[in-house]
Amino acid sequence: MHESLEELKNYREQFDHDAETVDSSDTLESLRIKYLGRKGLIAQSFKKIGGLPPDVRGQFGKDLNAFKAHANERFDTLQNTVAQKSDESWIDVTMPSRKRFTGSIHPLTLVEREVRKVFTRMGFTVMRGPEIEDTWHNFDALNTPDWHPSRDPSDTLYLDNGLLLRTETSPVQIRVMETQKPPIRIIAPGRVFRNDKPDATHSPMFTQVEGLYVDEGVTFSDLKGTVLEFYRQMFGKNVRTRFRPHFFPFTEPSAEVDVSCPFCGGSGCRICKQSGWIEMGGSGMVDPNVFKSVGIDPEKYTGWAFGLGIERLAMLVYGINDIRLFYENDGRFLEQFGGRR
Ligand code: DAH
Repeated sequence: MHESLEELKNYREQFDHDAETVDSSDTLESLRIKYLGRKGLIAQSFKKIGGLPPDVRGQFGKDLNAFKAHANERFDTLQNTVAQKSDESWIDVTMPSRKRFTGSIHPLTLVEREVRKVFTRMGFTVMRGPEIEDTWHNFDALNTPDWHPSRDPSDTLYLDNGLLLRTETSPVQIRVMETQKPPIRIIAPGRVFRNDKPDATHSPMFTQVEGLYVDEGVTFSDLKGTVLEFYRQMFGKNVRTRFRPHFFPFTEPSAEVDVSCPFCGGSGCRICKQSGWIEMGGSGMVDPNVFKSVGIDPEKYTGWAFGLGIERLAMLVYGINDIRLFYENDGRFLEQFGGRR
C-alpha cells in the first residue's frame, strides 16, 4: 500500500479513537479543529493530492472523501449527544418558573380611574372632547383675548388646516354647555398638547382633568369643598388645600389650588421645596363672558371649574420624579403598577 494511503488509514483510526473520548463541547471542538477545521488533517490531506503519483491519486481521493463523510457524520452525532448532556446537567426542574410580564394597567390610567371614581360618586358625569380643536372652543369661547400669549405658535401646536391640538381640557366645558342645560356636573379627562420641550416636569403631550359645575346658586365655597374632598380621597383625610388668587381668562375670580405636601404632611421637605405645599392646578368661578358665549344666562346661573394635571397627581401618588417615564413604555417601569392580570 502506498504510504499516503497508509497515512490516511492511520488518521481515520486516530479519529475514531479521539471521537471516543469526546465528552463535552470543549473536547468536541478540539476534535473538530484537529480533523475538520480549515487547517485540520482532512483539509491538509486534500492539499496533498496534487503531489501524489497518478496511480494512487484516485484511490486516495476516494478514501479521503469517505473519511470526510464519516468524520462529519460522527461529528453531528456527537454534537447532539453533547448538547443533550449539557442541558440535562443544568436544568433544575424543581426551580420555580419565572413569572412572565403580560402587561398591566398604565399608571396614568389607574390614576384617571381613581379621579373618575371620586367624582362620579359625587354625582359628576365623565365627558370627553376631541383632541383636535378649533380656536373657538379652545380660546374664543373661553374668553381668551386675541393677544393672549397662550395662542402663540410658540405655545400652541397648530395644524395646517387652521385647527389646533387642544392645549387644555377646558374646551370640553364649552362643548358640554353648548349642548346641555344646567344643572351641569361633569369632569373631562384627556390628553392636551403644548409646544414644550420635554424635561423632567414638561412634556409636549400630557393629561388633564377638567371639572365643571353649573347651576343656580353655585358658590366658591362649593368649589373649595368639592376640591378638598377630592384630595382627601386621593391623599388621605389629613390633606389640606390652599386657594391662591390667580388669573385665568375663563374664570373670575380665579385661584390656583395647592395641596399640603403628601410626603411631609406640610412641614417642608425636598419634594415640596420646603414650602409644605404643592401646586396642583387652576380653578375659579366661570366667567360671565363664557356663559354668554354658550348661551347660558349669567344672571340666572353661576358655576365653578377647575383643571389639573393627571401626571402631576400620579407622580405624587406613586412617588415618580420624571414625567417622561410615563411615555417611554419601559416595561421595568410599567410593571410596577397595577399588578398583573
Ligand atoms: N386650563 C387651565 C390650564 O390648562 C387649567 C384651568 C384653570 C382649568 C382654571 C379650569 C379653570 O377649568 O377654571 O392651565
